[in-house]
Amino acid sequence: MAQEDVFKKIVSHCKEYGFVFPSSEVYDGLGAVYDYGPHGVELKNNIKKYWWESMTLLHENVVGIDSAIFMHPTIWKASGHVDAFNDPLIDNKDSKKRYRADVLIEDYLAKTDEKIAKETEKAAKRFGSTFDEAKFRATNPRVLEQQARREAIHARFVKALNDSNLEELRQIILDTEIVCPVSGTRNWTEVRQFNLMFSTEMGSTSEGAMKIFLRPETAQGIFVNFLNVQKTGRMKLPFGIAQIGKAFRNEIVARQFIFRMREFEQMEMQFFVRPGEEMEWFNKWKKTRLAWHKALGLGDAKYRYHDHDKLAHYANAATDIEFEMPFGFKEVEGIHSRTDFDLSQHEKYSGKKMQYFDPEQGQSYTPYVVETSIGVDRMFLSIISGSYAEEALGNGESRVVLRLPAALAPVKLAILPLVKKDGLPEKAEEIRAMLRFDFHCQYDEKDSIGKRYRRQDAIGTPYCITIDHQTLEDNQVTIRYRDTMEQERVAIGKLHEIIAEKVSLKNLLKKINN
Ligand code: GAP
Repeated sequence: MAQEDVFKKIVSHCKEYGFVFPSSEVYDGLGAVYDYGPHGVELKNNIKKYWWESMTLLHENVVGIDSAIFMHPTIWKASGHVDAFNDPLIDNKDSKKRYRADVLIEDYLAKTDEKIAKETEKAAKRFGSTFDEAKFRATNPRVLEQQARREAIHARFVKALNDSNLEELRQIILDTEIVCPVSGTRNWTEVRQFNLMFSTEMGSTSEGAMKIFLRPETAQGIFVNFLNVQKTGRMKLPFGIAQIGKAFRNEIVARQFIFRMREFEQMEMQFFVRPGEEMEWFNKWKKTRLAWHKALGLGDAKYRYHDHDKLAHYANAATDIEFEMPFGFKEVEGIHSRTDFDLSQHEKYSGKKMQYFDPEQGQSYTPYVVETSIGVDRMFLSIISGSYAEEALGNGESRVVLRLPAALAPVKLAILPLVKKDGLPEKAEEIRAMLRFDFHCQYDEKDSIGKRYRRQDAIGTPYCITIDHQTLEDNQVTIRYRDTMEQERVAIGKLHEIIAEKVSLKNLLKKINN
């Protein structure tokens, strides 16, 4: 099936099974804003718990905060967001559609890479076991030509971004003959900068209302609390502050479902280090964060690092962790070395010292910062995409299954009496009463057992417990495993232990604790 179709199916599956709904749907929705349904909110909370505990339990020098969304407007002047948090936009005059100029060029570069990869794949098939890929890429004239053109465009693109040269961005779009996907024409406007922050007013107008911004990142709430946390927690460098919270960006191009939203949630951690030690910590956090992703078991090949072409105004190094979504490898998390930019700027704009006294060195300085920043919603999408599968069953039927990591699954087990009579529902209730305090259980007695299994597969429930007539005699139930569909007879008394072992967040955390 084409990846585009898979993505469409994932979006409708999310709606049908209560994971994600378009916001304000009865009023025809609101662009790039979504609501999470009953299963979605459970999965989302589990993702947040996994992140939070990995930060605050596995690192004794990382503590949490929860800062307000509204902040003093000067914060955004100091951070550079008022002047530099812009995207370059371009309109197609025929379709009247608006695009991000940089994204159009990035898509063009990705397509060229795909073409080269296809060319190489074809040759590999033709030559069989004697195929030498490196040699082919280094000598094939068509590949060399495409590669050279790609490199030249890439170099111009990076330079244009770094120089904020909007005319050159437009020229690259014209030179590469990029067409509007809707009108199919090359009738483009100039490229303009567009600030992504939402603003609102605080206080009544009679008092003189103040223009404030909805935060576009949670990080600034951490920076301005740096000294509060350091002093009250008697923290010594290096140490980190973690936070989960909403962020808002008036994205120009809202597409790809919950990948790019206007209201979303971030999980950010700022790690404060001695100046000069930031690259060592940057590399450590890169590894730690990738291990966190891989521990979920969605497949190591689905992740890769991507170094930034253009560094943000505050960074001296930056890498993304990308996940292979149905629409290609895309950023899920950013790891940035932010230097002392933010703390120095807040010191300058507030007039308050933002320095740390280092008892070992006997001097004060402004710490450097390494940041890990991940979007909850993108993480959610990567997990759903990586787990979604359509499978043919032996009997001519098929099933849709979400192979969610068991520790994150919204429902951990389903309790299913085989029939609605003969005391089986009562026995099932007994089992539910025993397990409900530790695991999110769902009780279901409607329809055939096959249909009930399908419903649980579709929401990713790792275990189904079936209670039958035999259960009343031997106190055993059948446990059915979502991924293998294998069934096993186990004693009711053993259920807690078996399930706890498999769905435990603790066991997931142990995998990355090295
Ligand atoms: N404090 C640094 C920062 O905000 P970023 O790369 O702009 O860096 C970090 O954002 C993460 O936030 C991204 O990797 C992504 O997962 C998430 N994110 C950013 N914009 C988003 C959007 N419009 N919709 C959903 N998630 C978004």
